[in-house]
Amino acid sequence: MAYNIALIPGDGIGPEVVAAAKKVMDAVFKKYDKTVNYKEVLMGGASIDVHGVPLTEEALADCKASDAVLMGSIGGDAKTSPWYQLEPSKRPEAGLLALRKGLGLFANLRPAYLYPELKAACPLKEEVADAGFDVMMVRELTGGLYFGERHTEVVDGLRTAVDTLTYNEEEVRRAAVKAFEIARKRRGQVTLVDKANVLDSSRLWRAVTNEVAKDYPDVELSIMLVDNCAMQLVKNPAQFDVVLTENMFGDILSDEMSMIAGSIGMLPSASLNESKFGLYEPSGGSAPDIAGQGIANPIATILSAGMLMKYSLDMDEAFDDIQNAVKKVLADGFRTIDIFSEGCTKVGTAEMADLIIERL
Ligand code: IPM
Ligand code: MG
Repeated sequence: MAYNIALIPGDGIGPEVVAAAKKVMDAVFKKYDKTVNYKEVLMGGASIDVHGVPLTEEALADCKASDAVLMGSIGGDAKTSPWYQLEPSKRPEAGLLALRKGLGLFANLRPAYLYPELKAACPLKEEVADAGFDVMMVRELTGGLYFGERHTEVVDGLRTAVDTLTYNEEEVRRAAVKAFEIARKRRGQVTLVDKANVLDSSRLWRAVTNEVAKDYPDVELSIMLVDNCAMQLVKNPAQFDVVLTENMFGDILSDEMSMIAGSIGMLPSASLNESKFGLYEPSGGSAPDIAGQGIANPIATILSAGMLMKYSLDMDEAFDDIQNAVKKVLADGFRTIDIFSEGCTKVGTAEMADLIIERL
């Protein structure tokens, strides 16, 4: 039986990093004697250019028909790209949000791990970097401010904008269950991050997460306010195992986590629904400033492909193979420009993928 994988190269550095990750996946599929069919799908700016919309019904159907989706990145330079002359609901980002919602991908897993070899790229104090960290963020992905009703109108002569933050208990519960399940396979700790000293939605998150915790007596739940969490992540990231949080807090904190891990080019992500299906993408953006130069770091996308094999195809060993190969490449001193430090060898996107394949 062949696996079916949808590939969304997207915009900016997306096509380059997806091509690199595909090469690595092909090598791993070959090693395990698996066959695979790829289907290229247009999304974001690339879809706007062809179809006038960031996500077509057909593209969504192609993703649904696959076992998993690997995506690069979408979007362009908001100041110069014609995509941003369009109304917000027709811009590249709207395609990604519609895809997440359309596929029911409510749990976004973003692991932030400091590879010991990348300590030099970590901006934290030396003793903090030396201690290392391995955090798994579980970000709720299909609710909250991102999907609430919004509008702009003139009220009493003043331009007034409204965004709404809504969660129901079921949306909270399923995200919390994912976090506890994951914690069980890691170090057994969940930190719920919220703003319950101000927001009703956060008070619901607390209540429901406390209920879910009762089913997981082997997992320890702690609770932290989001502003404190932003501080703790730079002060002592080693204290965290699984961080559970709502959509917008997760968006912000995951960029912070990527920075302390050395580079946003290192962080993979998996967006999952209730089944084994998932969408896998690097946590970083489309980096239009370096697109097309062959210098982008493909490691986050390559690790995302590894997560795809693990979570959607049950190829746990394939993920370990890829991660170990990445560790070896770093130990051997190869770096893309974003993680480069003195004494290392600078390599480009395609070369990095080939070096990883050599070490599989
Ligand atoms: C991310 C991105 C997206 C988000 C954007 C592109 C809509 O920042 O995946 O973190 O905010 O979720
Ligand atoms: Mg983001």
